[in-house]
Amino acid sequence: MGHNTGDLSSNLLITGASQLLTLRGRVPRRGKFLSDIGIIRDGALLVRDGAIAAVGTRLEIESLPESRTAEKLEVGGRVALPGFVDSHTHLIHAASRVEEYELKIRGASYEEIARKGGGILNSVKKLRAATAESLKKRAHAALREFAEHGTTTLEAKSGYGLNVASELKILRLHKELSVEQPLEIVSTFLGAHVVPAEFRDKPEGAEQYIALLTDKLIPEVAETELAEFCDVFCDRGAFSRKEADKILRAARKKGLFLRVHAEQLTRTGATRLGVKLGAASCDHLEQVNKADIQALARSKTAATLLPGCDFHLGLKKYAPARALIEAGAIVALATDYNPGTSPTMSMPMILSLACTQLRMSPAEAIAAATVNAAYSLLRDHKIGSLETGKQADIAILDAEDYREIPYYFGVNKCWMTLKKGQPVFQKTRVSGWPLQNPL
Ligand code: NIG
Ligand code: FE
Repeated sequence: MGHNTGDLSSNLLITGASQLLTLRGRVPRRGKFLSDIGIIRDGALLVRDGAIAAVGTRLEIESLPESRTAEKLEVGGRVALPGFVDSHTHLIHAASRVEEYELKIRGASYEEIARKGGGILNSVKKLRAATAESLKKRAHAALREFAEHGTTTLEAKSGYGLNVASELKILRLHKELSVEQPLEIVSTFLGAHVVPAEFRDKPEGAEQYIALLTDKLIPEVAETELAEFCDVFCDRGAFSRKEADKILRAARKKGLFLRVHAEQLTRTGATRLGVKLGAASCDHLEQVNKADIQALARSKTAATLLPGCDFHLGLKKYAPARALIEAGAIVALATDYNPGTSPTMSMPMILSLACTQLRMSPAEAIAAATVNAAYSLLRDHKIGSLETGKQADIAILDAEDYREIPYYFGVNKCWMTLKKGQPVFQKTRVSGWPLQNPL
């Protein structure tokens, strides 16, 4: 197989895309280039061995000799685009925090709930008590939902373990899940999510926990290659800028790439720190000021916006996406799938929020959720656009016009998802609708 040119099964010809969004062109996308989505009308794609062999119009691609013998997939006038790259998730957790949802609706703030032992520490308690097997089962169910909404690659953070055994348990699950299901998982170590209860309540507990991170966990995670990135939640009630600096430097020294939860609830200066340390991404950014925006714009650090958090928490202050784009920052979008602030696996829903709440155009939102997100995960050479040589990671949506992707909200318009040319989700419907014989 494979080398045998008579093997037809590895070629796939995809035709009939009303609009094929290639997202070809410069990476990362800044400023006015963010809305370049490279549309081909009546688009087609030839896939060979899981990678894109040719992209063009139906006429161009069908006339290639290889297309004649390829397996055919006619997508019936739908929109095809690169699979979404969800560059910020907290995939592994033991349970929802639905009990906090009602408290929030009645007016309790995220920080109030956290101070009372809810919040992240609530999830930590549950995760420590959970078996790896039950965590894996929950993650598998979530990963299927990601695939069902068009996501083909996602980043996943630890951070609900907060001790050696439980953090390693999460990171090992990232590895195991990577081979047990088709989506690519990019692993991030977030031991610096908050100071766990057993350290929080004693003098110099925070320092001791930070020492555990810098002297033990980070070296171990780096040496065993359990994570590619290290992240810190830098905020009031979590880690200060100074503490984040220490942790991130220790991680960088061990060869980990950096990401930062920055300026989410309060402004701490984490964005400037992330830029200074060459972080791949600063995420959230609701509270950034003008200087932070300028710093991001002049840097190679992505600005990853997570409007699902503000939506779920009922907050009115979204990140200043327009100012970031106009200044020239590299804007990306992600779900921040997690039980406390953003319980969603749906990138299309995030696109809807990006359009109505962040005032991004549909084209900008799509580029932010594909090419720029791939860039922020250091994977733009492989994913994020549909170009010859890249992975055939493709989402096909039940829409004729790409603007319908964010326009419809709260309904799943995903029709098919392909990872490396293999279908990993296909919408099926019961037959007999409308009814021939009314009940
Ligand atoms: O990205 N901000 C910190 N981390 C998560 C929330 C985690 C939680 O509440 O469980 C976030 O919003
Ligand atoms: Fe997060």
